[in-house]
Amino acid sequence: MLTESSTLTLTINGEERRVAFPTHHTLLEVLREECGLTGTKHGCELGECGTCTVLVDDKPVLSCLALAAEMEGRRIETVEGMQEANELDPLQRTFADLGAAQCGYCTPAILLTARALLDHNPDPTEAETRAALAGVLCRCTGYIKILQAVEGAAAIRRGEDWTPPDDVLYGDPPGTPTGPAAEDTANG
Ligand code: FES
Ligand code: FES
Repeated sequence: MLTESSTLTLTINGEERRVAFPTHHTLLEVLREECGLTGTKHGCELGECGTCTVLVDDKPVLSCLALAAEMEGRRIETVEGMQEANELDPLQRTFADLGAAQCGYCTPAILLTARALLDHNPDPTEAETRAALAGVLCRCTGYIKILQAVEGAAAIRRGEDWTPPDDVLYGDPPGTPTGPAAEDTANG
């Protein structure tokens, strides 16, 4: 029988937590309101924007559509769990280095979705990264920095040296021709 409140042991970021919550609450609500983990953002709460994404058993899940009451025995990971001690995850580092977060509202969801991608595909093509991130909408960026940051983090995770090219950090040098004429020149 469905009761009005539930008390369950949830495994969140490797820690078991005993949590009491109204049984109808979504995982998003329980993470933010009962657990104080406000890194997981709420957007549409309709399954459309992806900004509430967390990992459940290593797979991206829309926490606004998942019932917390069904999460006992599953491994839940939020952005708060990405850092190891004082070490940022490579994705967090490259996002910070490249300015891949603007307002940052979508960033936790994108970081976790990218982590799930790199965990099963250490060297994704740009098309594979775009496909993996397609469910998380960013209201701010043109996605280019996000793609570059994921590419950089993938390289770091593979043990390769990675430093962002100057034009990625600072843009084209002053005086660099732009526009259709410059493209014609570049294309010969
Ligand atoms: S808040 Fe969950 S998909 Fe928009
Ligand atoms: S950085 Fe603002 S929504 Fe993506």
